Amino acid sequence: MCGIVGYLGNNDCIENIKQGLLNVEYRGYDSAGISYIDGNKIVVQKRVGNVQNLFDTITCPDGIHCGIGHTRWATHGEVCEKNAHPHLSFNNKFSLVHNGIIENYAMLRDNVLSEIPFRTDVDTESIVNMVAYINQEKPEMPIVNCLGESLKSLQGSYAIAMIAKETPDVIYFARKESPLLIGVADGETFISSDILGLGKNCEKYVVVPNGVYGVIATDGIKAYKQGGKPYELEFKSMISLGERADKGDNAHFMQKEINEIPAVIVNTIDIYLKPLNPLTIIEPSFWEGIERIEFIACGTSYHASMVGAMFAEDNAHKVARTHFASEFVYNPPFVDEHTLCVFVSQSGETADTLHAVKVAKEKGAKTLGVTNVMTSNLVHVCDHTLPICAGVEVAVASTKAYNAQVTVLLLLADFLRDGNYETIARRISSEAMTLNLEEMWANAKKFVKKISNSRSIYFVGRHMDYITCLESSLKLKEISYIPCEAYAAGELKHGTIALVEEGTTMLAIVTEPKLISKTLNIVEQAKARGATLIYYTSLNLKDFAVKDKDVMRAPVVDVELSPLFSIIPMQMVAYLVSVGKGYNPDRPRNLAKSVTVE
Ligand code: G6P
Repeated sequence: MCGIVGYLGNNDCIENIKQGLLNVEYRGYDSAGISYIDGNKIVVQKRVGNVQNLFDTITCPDGIHCGIGHTRWATHGEVCEKNAHPHLSFNNKFSLVHNGIIENYAMLRDNVLSEIPFRTDVDTESIVNMVAYINQEKPEMPIVNCLGESLKSLQGSYAIAMIAKETPDVIYFARKESPLLIGVADGETFISSDILGLGKNCEKYVVVPNGVYGVIATDGIKAYKQGGKPYELEFKSMISLGERADKGDNAHFMQKEINEIPAVIVNTIDIYLKPLNPLTIIEPSFWEGIERIEFIACGTSYHASMVGAMFAEDNAHKVARTHFASEFVYNPPFVDEHTLCVFVSQSGETADTLHAVKVAKEKGAKTLGVTNVMTSNLVHVCDHTLPICAGVEVAVASTKAYNAQVTVLLLLADFLRDGNYETIARRISSEAMTLNLEEMWANAKKFVKKISNSRSIYFVGRHMDYITCLESSLKLKEISYIPCEAYAAGELKHGTIALVEEGTTMLAIVTEPKLISKTLNIVEQAKARGATLIYYTSLNLKDFAVKDKDVMRAPVVDVELSPLFSIIPMQMVAYLVSVGKGYNPDRPRNLAKSVTVE
């Protein structure tokens, strides 16, 4: 949901901003822009489209050492050049990039700033105009204080980077809720929404705390808490980001990330099998007195949570449920100090999920995050966090993070039962090591044409297979734009079967032997009404008059682990269909990887 970067240093600012923006482009790619000071003038260059397009179509002078950049996922105002960031103040003295939402921007524009001309439809413009307005009213006030004053009038969320004509080698910053990090290297300072946007040679970084603003200058960084009290930023050593933004031999990040799944699972298990590991370092009292477990998440993480809840209930014998974070906020279940709320989020920055943490904490629940990004907001707001160790996931449609989330949640379920998750951990690891991905890609390819030609697709399955249906359907619709839905197979006859006609494709997922006849009975009814069937199974369906040509093979694994592994060929199918249709699976339309607005 918008990525911001800034650079101040001895090297080429434009190149550093470009690299930073490319690394945070997963956050949005509706438009991109850059701003810097050239001579006595603030220059803003922006384009609709992605970061590469921006840099292919603009020229910048050499010798720029300070600037800011932005890649946008539109929230307020249509996608057009005018609305792209950076935004200039009415008097052209300030230029600012923003991630977040200013909820009271219309009120500011129509009241305090009513005499000031606005040029765009974007909430961000109210911030830069507010700074310029205060600076105009109080010219003696240092610019960083003008920024601090402006923040007092803003409602909503923001990560901000700003430059000012008066102070050429300086970047101003502020953060409330939306993520913001600062990284330092020898003679260089970087600012970004994500650790990935900081320079490769950064030695130290800090996650700017909520409510902190400040100034980055050649002689150092000064930070303040709201109200103007100086604040000491605590820098940490940079974490290894060796694999970031490198597709290797793969055509797309999504392909690379699917291919990494077995290694990610094994690596995650290795970390959780160490004597001191993310589960065992949590103080034992945290786990005491838990009567209920609520899993809360969005999108793919919601589906991983469904697996987690099913296993927590079956294995740990606790009432366990799953909630959409956006619904949990308005309709929370009964939650108290005996409730463990587990928040699952690849990015750790999803606004709906973070809001849900706040609600759960207010009710006294214990909060546990499960995330791939240990520098994220989720880690700061939850009592404890379990890393999923998937490595950087760049493609917008989540794949390897899903498998890593399911892995950790399976361990958690057994841990909650009796503390012993070693047996399941070793089973998962050994299954992961025997997966034959080449064979899976080959099998998936056989069904690409049939799926690509479908007008709509219904995924149907029961029990664990139903969760795989939900995630398969989400993956396919996200990147191929084929309308598809998932249904619990038993529900088909209670309404949805009315939609079945010639041309409907039904993909039945069956990986549990005890469910074969029940699931097949129902899809046969759909077949009799004209549906084209694809059976996705690891089982032998010969006794059910199913033709081989209609069977897509699922990996043969321990049935209990089916949700973890049977999704992989479905992720491959979604990828292949998207590529076959000429789309870029890494950058699906209208989506962003990290949704930092509610
Ligand atoms: C967005 C992404 C999805 C993702 C969801 C939750 O909608 O497009 O792929 O599953 O956010 O993200 P999270 O980072 O919280 O797992």
